[in-house]
Amino acid sequence: MESAADFGMDLRRHGGLGPAAPPRCRRIGAVTGTYWDEQADTFDDEPDHGLLDPAVRAAWGDALLPLLPAAPARVADLGSGTGSLSVLLAEAGYEVAGLDLAPRMVEAARAKAAAAGVDARFEVGDAAAPPWAAGEFDVVLVRHVLWALPDPDAAVGRWVRLLRPGGRLVLVEGRWSTGGGLTAERVRHAVLRHRREADVTVLDDPALWGRAIQDERYVVTSRR
Ligand SMILES: C[S@@+](CC[C@H](N)C(=O)[O-])C[C@H]1O[C@@H](n2cnc3c(N)ncnc32)[C@H](O)[C@@H]1O
Repeated sequence: MESAADFGMDLRRHGGLGPAAPPRCRRIGAVTGTYWDEQADTFDDEPDHGLLDPAVRAAWGDALLPLLPAAPARVADLGSGTGSLSVLLAEAGYEVAGLDLAPRMVEAARAKAAAAGVDARFEVGDAAAPPWAAGEFDVVLVRHVLWALPDPDAAVGRWVRLLRPGGRLVLVEGRWSTGGGLTAERVRHAVLRHRREADVTVLDDPALWGRAIQDERYVVTSRR
């Protein structure tokens, strides 16, 4: 995803965040939230962000829905952005709670859910430490957020604790051509620190991205 990689480069310039960043950056929340607030108006312009093209939207449904338990089930969408995936899943009958650090992203997600007539809920908060009780969700879905967190292993541990027994962790990530991101092997290992299973599915179908891609894009799914 080009813009996520650009995000990494921008954040390194703005405050030392991103994969090459020092692990303890006190300004991480403020810098990240400000950056993403500024992106909220144009975020959906990327085909895989806004899912405005029906073919792209259908491709994401086809990729994600088979990984989930049958609806209705409770889904946490962490770093939910403008809520595109949350709304996609809410339309498919899931009960979705989104969380994002950037207030303007949360506003956009709420507006998108209202326009779609679904009652997905969104709040402002840190995906690295979600303000929700353990065992509340059947699914934790996170797309293009883990790689930018200062301690991915700790974040995955907290996400696993949100799950009910048998709940599913679904992590969509990439190692983009610009050098940002995490390899599938890195994410698989992060999951296996906390779970017994982590399956990698490559997401190289151009229909998902609105164009052909050359870099590494994937989803890591864990059922137990
Ligand atoms: C690349 S966008 C992905 C948005 C959404 N997951 C999607 O795939 O459409 C990254 C999102 O993560 C959010 N984010 C980044 N760091 C975060 C954190 N620590 N806690 C919550 N949200 C965060 C940003 O505000 C932004 O909305």
